[in-house]
Amino acid sequence: MGGLFISFEGIDGAGKSTHITALAQAFEAQGRVVVRTREPGGTPLAETLRKLVLNEAMDALTESLLVFAARRDHIALVIAPALARDQVVLCDRFSDATFAYQGSGRGFDWDTLGMLEQWVQGSGPTHDLGLASAGLLQPQLTLWFDLPAPVAAQRLAGARVPDKFESQPEAFFEQVASGYARRMAQQPHRFAQINANQDPDAVWHEVLRVVKAKGFLA
Ligand code: TYD
Repeated sequence: MGGLFISFEGIDGAGKSTHITALAQAFEAQGRVVVRTREPGGTPLAETLRKLVLNEAMDALTESLLVFAARRDHIALVIAPALARDQVVLCDRFSDATFAYQGSGRGFDWDTLGMLEQWVQGSGPTHDLGLASAGLLQPQLTLWFDLPAPVAAQRLAGARVPDKFESQPEAFFEQVASGYARRMAQQPHRFAQINANQDPDAVWHEVLRVVKAKGFLA
């Protein structure tokens, strides 16, 4: 069977959450153990770092180092152990978000992010993830919930007190979306672009179709 790692991405307001819940139920209905988690976050330390990243002003390098530090803790304590136990890890955002938000959104250097990614997600002398497959730890499938920035802004408006990223102007989210498109162009094998600009039922059917086509759900 093997462990399964799926990540969920998109600009703020794209509406990932309900589909993560539904997918978790679908896997559980087929007898799989599901670990639902998120980034930045997923461990006590990473959740503490999340509060800093989402609420404090800082330069983009500091922000990148904090999200990758959180990711290292999350991989070591939650993701790698779950995959080693053949569980299904459903992660609300992973490193594509760093390329999209810190890279394209904030304009931070992609090559530097690539080096940090190698460091944190690679199995090397700095740490052993204990996973069967060597190389870079990446999701087997990344569902990118693609929604035009103006629609996302409308959905977010008045929904709750916005955090540091949610209060960014629409242009920021256009850049973030272009970052996701760039990541998808670089790693098309693991990406699925979901049209999130339709009613939730239609989005869910698209999600289900992709996950079944990959052979992950019967
Ligand atoms: P989000 O996943 O949208 O959670 P919620 O629905 O609870 O608001 O919030 C996480 C925010 O963090 C989102 O604005 C994107 C940002 N983020 C980064 O900037 N870089 C990263 O590497 C990650 C994982 C998230």
